[in-house]
Amino acid sequence: SAEELDRRIRAAKAALGDRLVILGHFYQRDEVLAYADYVGDSFQLATAARERTDAEAIVFCGVHFMAETADLLSTAEQSVILPNLAAGCSMADMANIDQVEECWEQLTELYGTEPDASGRVPVIPVTYMNSSAALKGFCGRNGGIVCTSSNAQTVLEWAFERGQRVLFFPDQHLGRNTAKAMGVPLEQMPMWNPNKPLGGNDATALDDSRVILWHGFCSVHKRFTIDQIAKARAEYPSVRVIVHPECPMPVVDAADEAGSTDYIRKAIEAAPAGSTFAIGTEINLVQRLAAEHPEHTIFCLDPVICPCSTMYRIHPGYLAWVLDGLLEGQVLNQITVSDDVALPARIALERMLAARP
Ligand code: 13P
Ligand code: SF4
Repeated sequence: SAEELDRRIRAAKAALGDRLVILGHFYQRDEVLAYADYVGDSFQLATAARERTDAEAIVFCGVHFMAETADLLSTAEQSVILPNLAAGCSMADMANIDQVEECWEQLTELYGTEPDASGRVPVIPVTYMNSSAALKGFCGRNGGIVCTSSNAQTVLEWAFERGQRVLFFPDQHLGRNTAKAMGVPLEQMPMWNPNKPLGGNDATALDDSRVILWHGFCSVHKRFTIDQIAKARAEYPSVRVIVHPECPMPVVDAADEAGSTDYIRKAIEAAPAGSTFAIGTEINLVQRLAAEHPEHTIFCLDPVICPCSTMYRIHPGYLAWVLDGLLEGQVLNQITVSDDVALPARIALERMLAARP
């Protein structure tokens, strides 16, 4: 029962004390976040994992790539636990290391490896945090970097200082929306099709490219539409529409603002009482913001409930199970990144942390 799980989780937390830290992503359900020591977006949770070197176990209530990142940023003595190993991310799965290596080989063939007169290499690879550790390692090995939705522009600026163009994966929307906001024309953002290697891809478009986009997307954020925005504006003329940059470009263009999870939270906190917000992001976060801010009217753009189905796979039952394991000295569902991947992946992550303004 829920009471029984609550009792077990609280007892384990009390017994383990500072030896345990529980991290929870904003998209987790409230029944899970009730036990989190830190609640945040993927950037904030990565930072928390890096800072809490005193905790022996980091239990990550989020998805697989976040737990991998926590392992990369924590010490060798700490263990990172993902309560349900089936909590993956469909976007992260849309780019695998073999496809990216293949793409890189083709791009190297096309552009060579020589820097231009100002010392910029032909291509800098940039991976969204929402990707496997293997892809972060790829970026570390090839002069590249990681970004999150909260620092994508800073990271692209970093990349353009060092490279003539960027290969951005896995999320086409974050790549396109960010580069567009920086003034890169759409014609200079061809999409790489891994099923159609060079030749099948438009070589002319690639010649003039500034950002080469991967075809990945988030199944939650791609549901938002411009019709939903039009409807919200018709119903509430003073509505402020804020969407996550993982939404498709027409949706971001039709919104008033686009920003990461944390940006959305801060915008709501700073608004004068009585404001109306239509939000285009995951439903657990939107409903929590609405509950925390009764002084505003806050609703999700999508009238059909749209949770992230893989985030939802973390249930208090799994949390109780891994915590009971820790009490018995067992590390269940540990996430470890092997050294050959971890060393370069850390380089790409550290570049991101250093690039932050
Ligand atoms: P942020 O936590 O960076 O806002 O990312 C949203 C997301 O899709 C997490 O999976
Ligand atoms: Fe992946 Fe989208 Fe879920 Fe984030 S919200 S974990 S990007 S599927």
